[in-house]
Amino acid sequence: MAFKIAVIEGDGIGKEVAPEGIRVVEAAARLFDLDIAWDRLDWGCDRHARFGRMMPENGLERIAGHDAIFLGAIGWPTVSDVESLWTLLMPIRREFQQYVNLRPVRLFEGAPSPLANPGRIDMCIVRENNEGEYSEIGGRMFPDTDQEMVVQETILTRRGCDRVMRFAFELARKRRRKVTSATKSNGIVYTMPYWDERFRAMSSEFPDVATDQYHIDIMAAHLVGRPASFDVVVASNLFGDILSDLGPAVTGTIGIAPSANLNPERRFPSMFEPVHGSAPDIAGRNIANPIGAIWSGALMLDHLGATEAAEAIIGAIERVLASGENLTRDMGGTASTTSLGMAIADAVSARTERGVAAHG
Ligand code: IPM
Ligand code: MN
Repeated sequence: MAFKIAVIEGDGIGKEVAPEGIRVVEAAARLFDLDIAWDRLDWGCDRHARFGRMMPENGLERIAGHDAIFLGAIGWPTVSDVESLWTLLMPIRREFQQYVNLRPVRLFEGAPSPLANPGRIDMCIVRENNEGEYSEIGGRMFPDTDQEMVVQETILTRRGCDRVMRFAFELARKRRRKVTSATKSNGIVYTMPYWDERFRAMSSEFPDVATDQYHIDIMAAHLVGRPASFDVVVASNLFGDILSDLGPAVTGTIGIAPSANLNPERRFPSMFEPVHGSAPDIAGRNIANPIGAIWSGALMLDHLGATEAAEAIIGAIERVLASGENLTRDMGGTASTTSLGMAIADAVSARTERGVAAHG
């Protein structure tokens, strides 16, 4: 199989973790005869400093025909967040109709959960990724006067709710057959009751999948109190954003959390990126955890149909974490970004050496 992947390392630790993701995907590609062409793009805040834009004007056109996009992180103090994110990350998510943001959360053996009795945590957060609370509908009136006012509208559409909820139910069918909806229909009285209504309607099409729903406040408490009880969690854009930092924190570190911005119809390329951001405070020190990027690489291979290669990467992450060696400092170790990346790449390669030995 041959693939063309757009690489946007982006900013901050994105430049350090994305290369480790590529290193490990390449190790898996060698084993499974995948031919990957990495099209490296210098899009990000450095480019903005030189040309005044995060990406070229025809940027999206340039990568629309690629098989996937592999992204590090976007954002640096020299450019406002609104500018850097809404002229690069958000246009990719939206114009390529990546309306599902799939964020798996797992507790690995060897990873330092802050909970005394975490149990077996293995859930998937399905975050709506194109609308909701993240909307461009709104504005400011009477600036700099005592009548100054600001409005931002939440947008929920029937199509937008239904398609992300359907994805969640279909995913649950391949897992433990349970979907939990995050809501807040007791406080947000128009959009969230509508979300609940669409959730009920969708659940009636999946009678074999169990459902429950919680308001986002108690949902946050349950995610800490009994994280092992969740299977698939479906949430609006903002709620999904918050839960997908909380979930990984409960499994030890947000540094390992991956995400897949999916266009399930495959009309456009999907984008794979760690959940963490550019982390200016630790950037340039080779101490960031590369597992979020590496696991995102596995999600990408899985999406591209290279399932065995994806599984080889997950297995390598499991073994390296369980060994307790080469952990970065967010996991209680002292290893560098590159040494953890290399350890996982080596574990990928070693897998088949053992496999070959076993067969020979
Ligand atoms: C994420 C990030 C982004 C988001 C930010 C950088 C806009 O937090 O991918 O979770 O909120 O979607
Ligand atoms: Mn986030």
